[in-house]
This record gives sequence, structure tokens and C-alpha cells, in this order.
Amino acid sequence: MKIAPSILSADFANLQRDVALVEQHGADYIHIDVMDGQFVPNITFGANVVKALRPHTKLPLDVHLMVENPGRLINEFAEAGADIIGVHVEADIHIHRTIQLIKEKNVKAEVVLNPGTPIDTIQHVLSMVDQVLVMTVNPGFGGQIFIEEMLGKIRELSQLKAEKGYHFDIQVDGGIGPETAKRCKEAGANVFVAGSYIYDAEDPGQQISRLRKVLSE
Ligand code: DX5
Ligand code: ZN
Repeated sequence: MKIAPSILSADFANLQRDVALVEQHGADYIHIDVMDGQFVPNITFGANVVKALRPHTKLPLDVHLMVENPGRLINEFAEAGADIIGVHVEADIHIHRTIQLIKEKNVKAEVVLNPGTPIDTIQHVLSMVDQVLVMTVNPGFGGQIFIEEMLGKIRELSQLKAEKGYHFDIQVDGGIGPETAKRCKEAGANVFVAGSYIYDAEDPGQQISRLRKVLSE
């Protein structure tokens, strides 16, 4: 089980400090939410922030691209030091080609599903990807409520993975805390993004320990 703190809820004026903090407390990935103000209403940061953080952590940088036509940005994010790049199937009419592009760069490829998007839409790229992200909130903002119906989607994906013998990780993102993480784990998820649960707390390190505890039970 892997924990990926989302720096969307970190202090943007102290990103280096907030990344180091979760690394010291056993985080597995740093989740970086890139938003373009088009695919989602919010705007966050670009490849220059990935590049700036790269020398300050040994953890894999897990980049979640919430942008229209992500194919045009793969090169830039790969060069900046992303270890995993996730692209939304809804944002790209050439999803297969974009995943090929990510892999050509020797970066792990992830495909992402919005809550309203069914698994059928990604069935023909599942053999290519290293990770599938099942969004458990509508993307754009931290601190939203977990959407219960997504547990069924995680189960469905996990069954398909077992049937076909695929090896991708199943990541969940949105409204994750100990309770929801536990239920997502039972449904088949193994990578857990958490933003506000970790960074909005007095003691982010303790929050990671709490998550780790329920995920190891
Ligand atoms: C939402 C982002 C998430 C966000 C999750 O669009 O993809 O990564 O940071 O925030 P929480 O954990 O607060 O729901
Ligand atoms: Zn995210």
C-alpha cells in the first residue's frame, strides 16, 4: 500500500518544507496536481514547479495532469523530472498515443477516470499503463466529499485486472482519510492520494501514520 500526499493542500509558499515533512514521515510518492483552468476551473502549477522540487526529494513525483490535450505537455513534464504522469481519458482524443509518448520517455504512464466516466473508455489502453487513477471526487479542488459510488468502479476495475492478468496499480484520489482509504483498499485500490487530510491537520506526520495503520490492518 502506498501513500501519496497531494501538495495541492500544502503551503505554496513553503513547498520544499512541506514535501520534506511528508518524506520524513514515510510518504511513498509526492502527488502533484496540475490544473489548467480549462479542463478544471482551478489553476495550479506547471512543469517549472516539478523541476524546482525535483532536487529536494528522493520520492517519486506523481504528476496528475488535469489539463486539456495533455499530449502537448508530456515532453516538458518528463524533462522536469516527473516519475509518473497521469492523463485524463476525457481530456485527450488521442489517449493511446499520449500513453505511448509517456512510455517513450521512460516515465510511468497513468490513465485517469473522472467519477462520471466508465471503465469501458480505457479498456484498450489497460495493457499499457502502470497505474489507473479512479477519481473519487470531481477534479479541481481539495477538501471535497468522497463519492461512495466509486467503490463499485474500483471493484470492477480490480476484477478486470485479475481476469486479464494486468499489473497496474489502482490509485484513488479525493476525499481520502482513514475510513475511505480502508474501504477503497477492500475494493482493490493500493495507492492512496490524500491532500487535506494530511496537510490541513496540525500534525501531518501523525496523519500519515494513521493512514498507514488502517492500510496495514
Ligand atoms: C483534486 C485533486 C486531488 C486533491 C485531493 O482535483 O486531484 O489530488 O488534492 O484533495 P483531498 O485529499 O483534500 O480530497
Ligand atoms: Zn490529484
